[in-house]
Amino acid sequence: MVALLEARNVSKRYGQGAVTVTAVDSVSFAVDRGQIALIIGPSGSGKSTLLSMLGCILRPTSGAILLEGEEVSALPDRDLPKIRRASFGFVFQAFHLFPFLTARENVETALRLHHTPRQMRRTQAIELLARCGLEERANFYPGSLSGGEQQRVAIARALVADPRILLADEPTASLDSANGDAVFAMLRRFANETGKAVVMASHDPKARGFADQVYTLTDGRISPASPLTLAARPSARPIRDRRAVQFATLAEAIEKLDPVIRPRPATDSAQALRP
Ligand SMILES: Nc1ncnc2c1ncn2[C@@H]1O[C@H](COP(=O)(O)OP(=O)(O)O)[C@@H](O)[C@H]1O
Ligand SMILES: [Mg+2]
Repeated sequence: MVALLEARNVSKRYGQGAVTVTAVDSVSFAVDRGQIALIIGPSGSGKSTLLSMLGCILRPTSGAILLEGEEVSALPDRDLPKIRRASFGFVFQAFHLFPFLTARENVETALRLHHTPRQMRRTQAIELLARCGLEERANFYPGSLSGGEQQRVAIARALVADPRILLADEPTASLDSANGDAVFAMLRRFANETGKAVVMASHDPKARGFADQVYTLTDGRISPASPLTLAARPSARPIRDRRAVQFATLAEAIEKLDPVIRPRPATDSAQALRP
């Protein structure tokens, strides 16, 4: 089966001649519907560069990004904004909310960019905020919301186009532990209930507990997938050696785990998001 989003041997070099920096070096990995892929690694290891390439913001120097099998990294620049808007939601460490607009107006602004008719924007914005547990906060300005609430407004805004993939770059780095947990749990719920795929870069050790796959980036190079990755995608390679058989058993174990960490099949119904 074709992966939802795949990086195939992707590299990014910045600069030219003798002063090039290889920020991402021959990275391959894939994420599927309902999965959360976590990328950990120290500052400067290439996490943001990799996320930008996955989200068609930055073009790889070599290698390919495939969205449902289509090589989006080979498309001309003029095609990329549409793909970004339709398929990706972006969440960053800084919330990037307009301080002079309420939570609802921040989300409405994004709906406007997606050409949602004016009369529908208010209801949709409130519904998106409600999905993020913020129905009581719709008319608050960012300055009177907690950091966690602001990040949840930013996530509501990232969901306006009902994207298949959320790219989250250190989404909890500005939050205290309780607010960070709430954001992770929310991303987990969206993955389980709506089949969204999440690729998240994070320093936060707790993030591991919410992820299906954990990768480490070191100087732009990605570590081999953790056993969980292979377990989550048993079709990814034939089972041959003993180690692989253990992975298959782990896959079975995951099937029986608590639904909070077990990805559920995708449903596109907006209703499914309701708590
Ligand atoms: N626009 C750029 N021009 C030149 N070098 C860059 C640019 N963006 C990032 N880098 C370099 O690429 C490497 C990876 O950066 P980045 O992807 O931001 O890593 P991380 O998100 O893990 O901190 C770093 O060495 C950084 O200095
Ligand atoms: Mg970064």
